[in-house]
Amino acid sequence: RYARPAPRPRGAGAQVWPRPEPQAAAGVVRRVPRVVELDPLPVPPESGTAFAGLRFLIVDDGCGIALELGDLLERHGAQVRTPPDVDGPCDGLVHLAALRPGAASVLPPAFGAIRQALAGGLRWLVLASGAGGTFGHRFDGGVGDPAPGAGLRGLARTIAREHPEVLVRALDVDTKDTPRALAQRIMAELLTADAPVVIGHEGGLRYGLELVPSGPPGGAPLNLARDAVVLLTGGERGMTARLALELARTSGCHIELMGRTPEREIRVDALLEHAASVRYHAGDVRDPRAVRDVVENIYLTHRRLDGMIHGAALAEPRPGGGTTPGSFEDVYLTKVAGACALAQAAGPDLGFFAVLSGADGERGGAGAAAANDACGTLAHVWRRRLRGRVLVAETLLGPDAGAPALLREITHGDEPHVVLTGEVR
Ligand SMILES: NC(=O)c1ccc[n+]([C@@H]2O[C@H](COP(=O)([O-])OP(=O)(O)OC[C@H]3O[C@@H](n4cnc5c(N)ncnc54)[C@H](OP(=O)(O)O)[C@@H]3O)[C@@H](O)[C@H]2O)c1
Repeated sequence: RYARPAPRPRGAGAQVWPRPEPQAAAGVVRRVPRVVELDPLPVPPESGTAFAGLRFLIVDDGCGIALELGDLLERHGAQVRTPPDVDGPCDGLVHLAALRPGAASVLPPAFGAIRQALAGGLRWLVLASGAGGTFGHRFDGGVGDPAPGAGLRGLARTIAREHPEVLVRALDVDTKDTPRALAQRIMAELLTADAPVVIGHEGGLRYGLELVPSGPPGGAPLNLARDAVVLLTGGERGMTARLALELARTSGCHIELMGRTPEREIRVDALLEHAASVRYHAGDVRDPRAVRDVVENIYLTHRRLDGMIHGAALAEPRPGGGTTPGSFEDVYLTKVAGACALAQAAGPDLGFFAVLSGADGERGGAGAAAANDACGTLAHVWRRRLRGRVLVAETLLGPDAGAPALLREITHGDEPHVVLTGEVR
């Protein structure tokens, strides 16, 4: 469907974006993830009785870490198996699949088995990723690809909140360390109950990942001309629609929307009034071909694409309401596979690439928390490929406060991952 608004007067030259100033909006709390150094743990003893008679499953990394860790655990009394996947009940689960060379994404496929292990009375859970020990923040395109373990931290945080009886650790490691050293670090974490859920190990250094308060965004401003074109995935009403309206109001650009609904008449008068044009494309954002088709169609029509905003989302059953593997997968893939498909389809002229989500890492279900974490992690990968601004924004703000704050973040920010809330912490 194509809706063309009444022609507007076009002033000579420059009506360029952005309009919003880079001050923090009143009441908006902006936080960004930062790697912080923690005290190292002592090297674990060679033997002991801490795990006497307990069953441990180590999902094999194929590089010797599982064997070294199995040996250590056995010397502390545990019965250990190292299968390629979770294959039965256990007291302790150490998931090393993300450390395999050339590993595929561990999530969402691993979620079902982890959930089953939890239901079977798990007491220790370690989910390992191999993003260098600094959570992908220093990924330069070489060793330490954060993609296979993306999302595990968000999942671990949710599990830790919902299962306080379980020692949960999302452990990011540097796979250049020896299997023996890595096994000792994992063992030391298993023996340390009182520690943050998210830990990184790089050489002898131990890190945490904290959300720290940050001032208003302060990067170089991004200009969006009035003949610019922005693609937004998501709804006609909520945050995405409101952001489309803010974009159209401030720049007068062309708006392209994508959702699953087969036919959609764009009824938002204000959007039609301010945007140079508004078009709707039906398609599933999880399908890379559908996304590519939409992007090609936009290039055929406008010969450019300046920005992408991925707002498409599925609501998730809340904790206690039962998160089934199916719903985890749907929520996760809508956000993560959708974002990956968009990033893949993006051309070199893309000025910005933004992924929006609720700040569910702190209070939502496992699927949304894992998806948000995965996108925050993958931002470091997308930044390697896309030259323009890359932003993953989690927010609990409603559309009235959230849309201007997000626009400010896109236009003036340079942080790849921000969390915007309205509460003072
Ligand atoms: N609204 C708020 O107050 C608010 C506040 C804070 C954060 N957020 C976050 O901001 C993001 C966007 O929010 P929103 O309010 O715009 O969401 P929304 O109104 O719930 O819209 C989400 C839309 O995503 C589309 N969608 C779902 N699966 C899709 C798929 N596979 N392919 C293509 N489109 C798909 C759906 O459109 P179809 O029905 O056409 O498929 C749906 O209308 C969400 O992650 C949300 O958590 C929202």
